[in-house]
Amino acid sequence: MSAKDDKPTPHHNYHPIKILGIVLVWTVSLYIALVIIKNYDADLHPKSPEFSRPHLVKNENICKSPECITLAHQLHNWQDISVDPCQDFYQAACGKYNEQNTVEGPRFLKAFEINLNLVTEHLEKNLPTTSKSEQAMRSYFQKCKESKTKNATEEKDEMMRELYQNIQKIGSFPMMNKNWTESDFDLNEMMVNMASTGKTDFGIFELEPTEDSQIIIYPSTYSHAAYNFFFNSGNKIFLKFMKHYAEVNNLDSKDFEPDQKAVTDLAGVEKFLASIREMGKFQISDFFDETIDFEELQELVPSLDFEGRIKSLINPAKKEETWKKVMGKVRVHIPGYFANQTSNLETILKTTPKRVLANYLIMIYIRSEILKIKKVGESHVHCARAAISTLPLAALRVIVRNHFDKENIDIASKMVEEVRQSFIEMIQESDWLNEETKRNAIRKATMMRKMVGYPKELEVPGALDSFFETLVMSPNDSFYKMISTVEKFETEQAIDFVASSLQMLSKKVYFEANASYSPWRNLLTLNIPFIDDPFFDSTYPDYAKIASIGEVLGHEIGHGFDTDGRKLDENGKKRNWWTPEDSAEYDRRARCLVDQYSNYDDPDFGKRLNGSTTIDEIAADIIGINTSWRKKLNLVNEPKIIGFEDYDTDKLFFRLAALNWCKPRSTHSLSEELTYSHPTSSFRVNGIFSNTKSFAEAYNCPVGSPMNPVKKCELF
Ligand SMILES: *[C@@H]1O[C@H](CO)[C@@H](O)[C@H](O)[C@H]1NC(C)=O
Ligand SMILES: *[C@@H]1O[C@H](CO)[C@@H](O)[C@H](O)[C@H]1NC(C)=O
Ligand SMILES: *[C@@H]1O[C@H](CO)[C@@H](O)[C@H](O)[C@H]1NC(C)=O
Ligand SMILES: *[C@@H]1O[C@H](CO)[C@@H](O)[C@H](O)[C@H]1NC(C)=O
Ligand SMILES: *[C@@H]1O[C@H](CO)[C@@H](O)[C@H](O)[C@H]1NC(C)=O
Ligand SMILES: *[C@@H]1O[C@H](CO)[C@@H](O)[C@H](O)[C@H]1NC(C)=O
Ligand SMILES: *[C@@H]1O[C@H](CO)[C@@H](O)[C@H](O)[C@H]1NC(C)=O
Ligand SMILES: [Zn+2]
Repeated sequence: MSAKDDKPTPHHNYHPIKILGIVLVWTVSLYIALVIIKNYDADLHPKSPEFSRPHLVKNENICKSPECITLAHQLHNWQDISVDPCQDFYQAACGKYNEQNTVEGPRFLKAFEINLNLVTEHLEKNLPTTSKSEQAMRSYFQKCKESKTKNATEEKDEMMRELYQNIQKIGSFPMMNKNWTESDFDLNEMMVNMASTGKTDFGIFELEPTEDSQIIIYPSTYSHAAYNFFFNSGNKIFLKFMKHYAEVNNLDSKDFEPDQKAVTDLAGVEKFLASIREMGKFQISDFFDETIDFEELQELVPSLDFEGRIKSLINPAKKEETWKKVMGKVRVHIPGYFANQTSNLETILKTTPKRVLANYLIMIYIRSEILKIKKVGESHVHCARAAISTLPLAALRVIVRNHFDKENIDIASKMVEEVRQSFIEMIQESDWLNEETKRNAIRKATMMRKMVGYPKELEVPGALDSFFETLVMSPNDSFYKMISTVEKFETEQAIDFVASSLQMLSKKVYFEANASYSPWRNLLTLNIPFIDDPFFDSTYPDYAKIASIGEVLGHEIGHGFDTDGRKLDENGKKRNWWTPEDSAEYDRRARCLVDQYSNYDDPDFGKRLNGSTTIDEIAADIIGINTSWRKKLNLVNEPKIIGFEDYDTDKLFFRLAALNWCKPRSTHSLSEELTYSHPTSSFRVNGIFSNTKSFAEAYNCPVGSPMNPVKKCELF
């Protein structure tokens, strides 16, 4: 067959497509009719052969599930049949996307919006539940709605009064207390009080429970942001806030006039901040050089009780037990900040007046509360969205229990294994990798862990809820108070995660239709919304499953072998497991992809993109399409998709894979695009597929046509 035969022209295709459209609409109506008949009286109207098998459709082996029909709809309606697939496959597959979609962005975002609606409905219905996590999310949601109806000015004043109470608990604030004396201040005590509100940033250093199960200690990022906040605005924002705060709480507000006493206090704080900023000059390259361990840190900075700070963030019900589990996982980053011989934190703390330290810590606290007060206002815009992003695991549980087919987890889990196998096959067949490098790559792929949906441990009834026991919110609490309570709770949960008692970090991203790879844990994660309609359904033909989520799985596995991922080993540790020749050859091949993207003529941005910033995603895409195609090759006799009965499944595979990236035209600027780590949607289809021989073969693209260039870039 010549390429010409394959090239659809608007004239020839107009008619058949119209018929297909009618068949589609007709089949949908039939399906609905059948469902209605079935539900009303199945015995009176047994499914007649004519009804269940529309005679316009010849092929018997067709998937007719509603999900397949939706998929058929996307294949049909998003395509632009006036475009030659060998010229511009992205346009051919996605050209009409804009005419069919109101949600901005790709179908990934649409899936998120749908789940958001489902949880919103659930929250609005407010049916009784015994689930702790659900109760928590509902309290939060109800309180948000209640707070929304309040007079904003009055609510803000109420928050100012609560803030006053909270500050009393943190410690005495010299700037606002004429009777303040040095004996009122104890650095560690004030920090304990800050920690008991869930704060992990102490202005001087920060504690962070991380995704790779560590608690890291590093110079406070506040020292930068806080500096700008307090001082770059010429004190104005802070002074204005404090003046109002003083008025609401019947305190002396005169001090906060721009030329009054507070300004002297602020000058002291500014000097202190400047000095710790100077010391902690962030050098990202130093970030992972852990040259001191936790015990050493404690010796270097005896003024600060680091152990006490971590302990005060732990769930009090199991403090000692949890501490034992996490104490070995504490790491210190940017050690120069703590360990420098000439200028170090201990010296600065010793020489800074207590008054300055007390002012600084309370200012840091106030700043975080100002942000929280802002959050109250922002949450009002969409209370369900706020509840979900604040308690994502609780929201996920609602979706899983009410709207998700758990069978999908097993199918997707098997797919991970199949794609992993394809990846290994690709490595084995590579004609340039040394045997030694192959063995190492295969070991890394074999040892890659996976989390499909959520950890098995959370499947046990009540398992997730047991982690919500300590989240106590009274209906009498203000919304501001609830936000604080949840913040503290989130920190406790994150430490539970580091202690390995909770197997999943509470993160909003798990609620997104997405998948991810964590290089430091060599862990592949597939989120629940991603293994669901429209990306995945158990009724889909296997080639459709493999083209949509199989390709993304391959992509995520591929991140373990992109230009950064390849520098880490099977345990996520930095180690060079490449022979020097292989390393050089890999770089040469990656260069080919970088140049390809830098010279790519994108429909939205022209030839102005930068392959260096997107290389890792491009490499992952190349691996993704290669591994999923391999898997697809073994499939025979799979059901057809309505309207595509006579369409070659090899072709269909690429059409289905392209659907993931269909997107409206970009509306953001080139300079914003240049900061993205992902290539443009058009490149993810055209650039990537044009490197793939099987694409050119499936579509019979003439050598030298845009989708079958003579020069192709291959990775392995
Ligand atoms: C999916 O995750 C990647 C990185 O983890 C992120 O860049 C991307 O925006 C996410 N996509 C969606 C639709 O959430
Ligand atoms: C809100 O309360 C303030 C002070 O009590 C009052 O001046 C203002 O008019 C109220 N605003 C509305 C919209 O009711
Ligand atoms: C300061 O001390 C005086 C005398 O003991 C007392 O009257 C006053 O209320 C105190 N002020 C504050 C702000 O605590
Ligand atoms: C220690 O501090 C001094 C002065 O700030 C600086 O010049 C030097 O580079 C620092 N040394 C280290 C190892 O961070
Ligand atoms: C809430 O406040 C009301 C009225 O002040 C009080 O009667 C009730 O006991 C409070 N409920 C809780 C749970 O604190
Ligand atoms: C592309 O990005 C890299 C870093 O990501 C940068 O060093 C390089 O200057 C950029 N190239 C162009 C042409 O802007
Ligand atoms: C997969 O990669 C191998 C080696 O680079 C290449 O020969 C093959 O054509 C690729 N297949 C696809 C579908 O990209
Ligand atoms: Zn990626």
